[in-house]
Amino acid sequence: MEMFDRKSLVKKVKPKSKILVLPLLVILFVAVVTGFSGNKSRKAAVGRDEVAGVGKSGRHVPAGAVDTLSEEDADATALVDYGYRLITETYAWVGPGTKRQISGNRLACSSCHLDGGTRAFAAPYVGLDKIFPTYIARENKVETLEERINGCFERSLNGRAIAVDDEVMVAMVAYIKHISRELQKDGPFKGRGFVSFKAPDRAADPKNGAAVYEANCAACHGADGKGVKGVAGNREGGYIFPPLWGEDSYNDGAGMNRLITAARFIKGNMPLGVTHESPLLSDDEAYDVAAYINSKLRPVKANKEKDYPDLSKKPKDCPYPPYQDNVTQEQHRIGPFNF
Ligand code: HEC
Ligand code: HEC
Repeated sequence: MEMFDRKSLVKKVKPKSKILVLPLLVILFVAVVTGFSGNKSRKAAVGRDEVAGVGKSGRHVPAGAVDTLSEEDADATALVDYGYRLITETYAWVGPGTKRQISGNRLACSSCHLDGGTRAFAAPYVGLDKIFPTYIARENKVETLEERINGCFERSLNGRAIAVDDEVMVAMVAYIKHISRELQKDGPFKGRGFVSFKAPDRAADPKNGAAVYEANCAACHGADGKGVKGVAGNREGGYIFPPLWGEDSYNDGAGMNRLITAARFIKGNMPLGVTHESPLLSDDEAYDVAAYINSKLRPVKANKEKDYPDLSKKPKDCPYPPYQDNVTQEQHRIGPFNF
């Protein structure tokens, strides 16, 4: 347990957390600037002041982890602290080249679970300790929270599963419990997952998606999708803007590699700074740009044919076979999903 010794952890972590304010401001600034430059007739991007839990309608999430940990919380343990670091700086603790090396890319959990997993409709973690164990179609069984986290390690982070009693797992779960502590057992858990989305009744158009990408995404994620790497003092070893395809991205078995899942994430959260209440992209644009991103090469997950042992539970937008219907793989990949 020395790893969780609060003093040594704080020593390691403190200087970073001060410096972290700067990149956050830079990101906010870029968010606002690109919000304006992308398309003048559109609403300006909203800032990150909307950290979940502010009490607005539809928000169920208690105050952001950062506030919680720095101020009010006398009993925030080193374990919770470590869990928070693992989730927001995954690359630095368990990424490629680290001693532990669990993930195979340099993303953080919070690359997708925004604001340390406290942002509504960015697949927040808040309340999950009360929802799990729950049925997961991909494995066709009731899964624990630990097993679900391993799913993201193996796919979103293109890495490997770890033991449920691994200190990394224990710390992440402690953090999730911590940010969930104000929620009652039976919810409501509004804001879980992503915004709802009705797939347009047509195949997605990756060509149009490329144009949407150029106008709304490339400024941060790069025309080549490789993102912008962190530098000393600012997400070093990870990304300021994460890659969306290529070898350091999520693999082809990840939830984000499904068209509708990606479109829902993008619509409610991208370009960075928009919220589910004031999205910037139309459903059509989110659909096309998601198809564009997921038409690109990314790491390949082995044994995907074993996913969804009960094929009747396989989502329509799962891009890889086998299927129980006669719809082509291409149509499962980019729609239309009117079958
Ligand atoms: C590339 C994006 C990405 C990254 C990185 C990522 N995840 Fe996920 N995660 C997802 C998606 C997509 C879902 C599915 C959400 C849904 O189905 O609504 C998900 C779902 C989950 C869930 C279940 C949420 C729920 O409401 O049931 C948990 C728990 C989770 N992830 C934990 C993690 C942890 C911990 C990490 C880091 C070790 C991580 N994820 C990294 C994309 C990501
Ligand atoms: C202002 C900069 C900015 C813009 C513009 C932007 N993003 Fe992002 N995006 C980010 C950041 C930063 C993250 C990771 C969140 C974090 O680290 O807190 C992210 C995360 C993501 C992720 C999940 C993480 C990953 O690497 O897969 C996807 C997918 C994504 N963005 C897609 C898009 C799309 C599509 C657009 C255009 C519609 C877009 N983004 C526009 C900054 C931006």
